[in-house]
Amino acid sequence: MSDQKNQGKDGLSRRQFLTYALGGTGAFMAATIAAPLIPFTLDPLTRSGGGTFVDSGLKESDVKSDLPQLIEFKVHRKDGWIEENAKYTAWLIKDEQGQILAMSPVCTHLGCQVTGTVDPSGNAQPAADGKWWFHCPCHGGRYTIHGVQDPTKPPTRPLDLFEVKVDGGKVMISSKLNQRKA
Ligand code: FES
Repeated sequence: MSDQKNQGKDGLSRRQFLTYALGGTGAFMAATIAAPLIPFTLDPLTRSGGGTFVDSGLKESDVKSDLPQLIEFKVHRKDGWIEENAKYTAWLIKDEQGQILAMSPVCTHLGCQVTGTVDPSGNAQPAADGKWWFHCPCHGGRYTIHGVQDPTKPPTRPLDLFEVKVDGGKVMISSKLNQRKA
């Protein structure tokens, strides 16, 4: 049977009808599959909470310049359908210019957790060798109290920094991380 014979009074043949119907169904199915993936594709643009500052629990005057201090903070985060109070840890210290550095404990080589030089009670102690204070258990990476890497070890850049600001004397911290140049 030819298309012309199947043409209705509105000019739509059976073949055209099937083409449109199948095309529409295919587009609907593709949209159904792709829709949940859009937030992940756009991540971190759609992630909220990254730029939110929360109280670190320390005053600016509490932050030391000789040894890092460990803090924990929580940031309310909405990631697609997931809403949570994400927990973070950071090591805070003032650099030589009095600038507060909030260092991530994640090794910049392959992401293991670095440990600071602390006593069994968790109190920060001077580096045993006088220089390398953070140690990575995975491949021997090590960093100074300011998070600067030992160039003879695998990490090629310093520990990343959480964004911080001082507001009314309080140190405010965000979960947004910035890389430092090697
Ligand atoms: S992950 Fe830290 S040195 Fe490799």
